[in-house]
Amino acid sequence: MNLTINTERLMRELHHLASLTNCPPTSDASLPVPTQAVTRIVFTARDLEARAWLKGLADEAGFTVREDAIGNTFIRWHGSDATLCAVGTGSHTDAIPHAGMYDGTVGVLGGLEAMRALKESGFQPTRSLELLMFTSEEPTRFGIGCLGSRLLGSVLDPESADALLDRLPETDSNALEGLTLQQVREAADFNGSLASVALPKDYYSAWVELHIEQGPLLEREGIDLGIVTGIAAPASYRYTIEGFGGHAGALLMPDRRDALCAAAEMILSVERHARAANAAAGGVDAVATVGMVNVHPGAVNSVPSRVNLPLDIRDTDVDRRNSVMTAFHADIVAIERARQVRVTEELINADAPARSDKRIVEALEKICETENIRYKKMVSRAYHDSSFMAAIAPIAMVFIPCRNGVSHRPDEYSTPESIALGTRVLALAMAKLSSE
Ligand code: GLV
Ligand code: MN
Ligand code: MN
Repeated sequence: MNLTINTERLMRELHHLASLTNCPPTSDASLPVPTQAVTRIVFTARDLEARAWLKGLADEAGFTVREDAIGNTFIRWHGSDATLCAVGTGSHTDAIPHAGMYDGTVGVLGGLEAMRALKESGFQPTRSLELLMFTSEEPTRFGIGCLGSRLLGSVLDPESADALLDRLPETDSNALEGLTLQQVREAADFNGSLASVALPKDYYSAWVELHIEQGPLLEREGIDLGIVTGIAAPASYRYTIEGFGGHAGALLMPDRRDALCAAAEMILSVERHARAANAAAGGVDAVATVGMVNVHPGAVNSVPSRVNLPLDIRDTDVDRRNSVMTAFHADIVAIERARQVRVTEELINADAPARSDKRIVEALEKICETENIRYKKMVSRAYHDSSFMAAIAPIAMVFIPCRNGVSHRPDEYSTPESIALGTRVLALAMAKLSSE
């Protein structure tokens, strides 16, 4: 097969997608070029614009497009045998606030380029090839990651999904604050029951997602490509800490039950327990993050009476993740007692790790060997939609290096050469899996 990835076209499209952002063009001279800060939150005008543009590209390439009730977008190249289930690829185009331009987008536009390049080479698939753009891989708006893929994989129950609340911070321009997912998706023209989103277990014969590594290992070790053998298990919680507020001058120190001071102790506690778990294991797999703090009433001269904070905790080993939580829970009880505050916990999700399929991993290894590509097998510490596609399909992922391991930042960067290489390997894998 004479396969040529059109790197120039793919990079042009990645840069166009990056321009569909709610961040103003960056003028930060301290950031390396090329850099574009990207904020593209699900079902905002920018997200809808990006979706319409992507569907236009799919039409132009001669693929068929369908959308489901949550806005997952399926771009299909029909194979010669319609009785066989498809080979899938895909990722997300939503981006957290002030993110980079490669997270997720490389898997979507790289997936599109892989299919187009195969088509242009004269290849004819036996199984259909399908690119999937997932709705809301990022948890920014509804508090839970991988909404679209959780529903596809029947990992999330449709009624509770539809009741999720829009949690974007209230701003003058954000009139949607406090709406349910059902209201928000219907306003974006995605109607119908979420129960219809689930895919049957035989929908895909194989699934491969292309993504930037989001960590430093490939670059550090001078390796071209990662083949993901498993994805770490994420969990997330939401905490409310209620204390007693009042005047910053007049409320005496002995009388204080400051909710933010209690929250600060909790943040340090979970960090300490994650570090201790790693030290005990001689590893680095336990990670715990509090990325937001919401303080009420939020005034410089008012003692905080209430704080909300999310916790994102992950590990390759669920037992170790649970042991960090057990130690954290004991600290919460002690903090409540010492500071006379009340802490309530809401579990958002506690997922298992995902494992890649041996057959697909071997197919990817074979391609790398034939193409003389330096690769390593590795785990993904970030979660991905593939984590939940694993519930209904044999999966694997392909990672490409990203500069300094940086991600979820505007200076996220992968070279065009790496992007093209990952896309080429994806195309070869899809072609091979299409005839198996
Ligand atoms: C995905 O964005 C993740 O947080 O791992
Ligand atoms: Mn991300
Ligand atoms: Mn991603």
